[in-house]
Amino acid sequence: MIKYLQLQMQGNAYLKCVNPKCGLEYPIMSTNVQCENGHVLDVIYKNKPSPDLKETFYERRDSKGNIFNESGVWRFRDLLNFCQIDTEDNDECSKYLVSLDGAEGRQSKPYQMSKAAEFLGINKEGLWLQPEGYNPSGSFKDNGMVTAVTHAKMVGAKKIVCASTGNTSASAGMFAANEGIKCDVYIPAGQIAPGKLSQAYQFGAQIIQVEGNFDDALKQSLDDAKNYDGYTVNSVNPFRIEGQKTIPFRALEYLNWESPDWIIYPGGALGNTSSCGKALMELYQWGWIKKIPRIAVINSDGASTLSDLYNGEFEDEELRWNKGNPNTELISRYYDHLDKEKLRPKTKATAIQIGRPANIIKGLRALEFTNGVVTTVSDSEMLDGMSVVGLNGFDCEMASGASVAGIKKLMGEGIIKKDDVVVGILTGRQKDAMIPVDYHSNPQNVFANPPKK
Ligand code: F0G
Repeated sequence: MIKYLQLQMQGNAYLKCVNPKCGLEYPIMSTNVQCENGHVLDVIYKNKPSPDLKETFYERRDSKGNIFNESGVWRFRDLLNFCQIDTEDNDECSKYLVSLDGAEGRQSKPYQMSKAAEFLGINKEGLWLQPEGYNPSGSFKDNGMVTAVTHAKMVGAKKIVCASTGNTSASAGMFAANEGIKCDVYIPAGQIAPGKLSQAYQFGAQIIQVEGNFDDALKQSLDDAKNYDGYTVNSVNPFRIEGQKTIPFRALEYLNWESPDWIIYPGGALGNTSSCGKALMELYQWGWIKKIPRIAVINSDGASTLSDLYNGEFEDEELRWNKGNPNTELISRYYDHLDKEKLRPKTKATAIQIGRPANIIKGLRALEFTNGVVTTVSDSEMLDGMSVVGLNGFDCEMASGASVAGIKKLMGEGIIKKDDVVVGILTGRQKDAMIPVDYHSNPQNVFANPPKK
């Protein structure tokens, strides 16, 4: 702790409210997830990193026995250095940085998948799909969980807390077990994939079943964290966002830091959208990239809050970041409308069955900065997307199929072009074994391969 306090004195990293009119600042040791006016926070770095680091990141791929070089997150540690460490020494790093022996992000990079390209009708050299399901807990969450739990450790937290549609709880449980701290997970009863629930049990997390959906679970977990001294590790935590920046970092590094035209994500709570936006804003500001890729967020058509608001489908107003002045009243009226009409988010892709995306404000900022687009896809389109990824020898879950389905839809609308370079993020691995079994049992499905009798 004393060492951390000294580091904090150096003050190279701090927290700042995202609202430009408010802009309240907090020290890096703060555990606030909001400023006192209720706005979300960013981690800000005073130092501008040298572009020579690109070479360092590449060299660290030869890990020389250092697990923090092996880690696909901590390999980029200089760009998320809220701990303010400056050492290549494994033992010194391990005093501060949380890692599952370097496994987080280690296997993640973009791949060309020709069968998916054929299905989409896109140039196969230009289509890159990046599986994040090969992370140790089976989803992209590990990228941000290592940074959030690192901060939890920095502030001496004894218990981490999250609400989850499943993957966050698996990741939080895994790192909590590894660090020997407690973990409470709030899940919407009966609405998460069995494989995800079993992971949380397996890792010794305390499960709290909430009658309601993810939005209700998040509300309860945030209240309980505040009242019972828990450290929240959902993506409203700005340190989660820092780790998830490494998803686009790895994609860009693989493309020699030449920006693709598009980066595509499924949209749930919008942590990914926010972190990709922050990563691109920083890289652009530092002069590391010259072109800004456009972000496309793909909602399920049964959980389409962002799409409805962004595309002006509610009260005919297109919700925008608007240079830091988004119409938050429009968002509130939309939520009231959902409540009044008893409209609950509904999709078989339970990972993204979310009605109130906690990071909507940062998500809007990301979309404005990147001239992004938002659309929706159906459950059956997501299943086709998931299945064609499988035919390339890669496994992903249904929500991840939204990235593939979204590319198809946007190509059909002429928004993504055949020759564009596109990176689609496959956010998680299959944890609901019956989804592919059911899909392939129905001969009507596009890629179905029904069993022979
Ligand atoms: N894909 C998968 C596989 C997810 O688990 C999630 C979110 C998303 C996409 C959406 O990402 O929130 O950054 O927009 N899962 C969370 C959870 C909510 O609790 O595991 P987002």
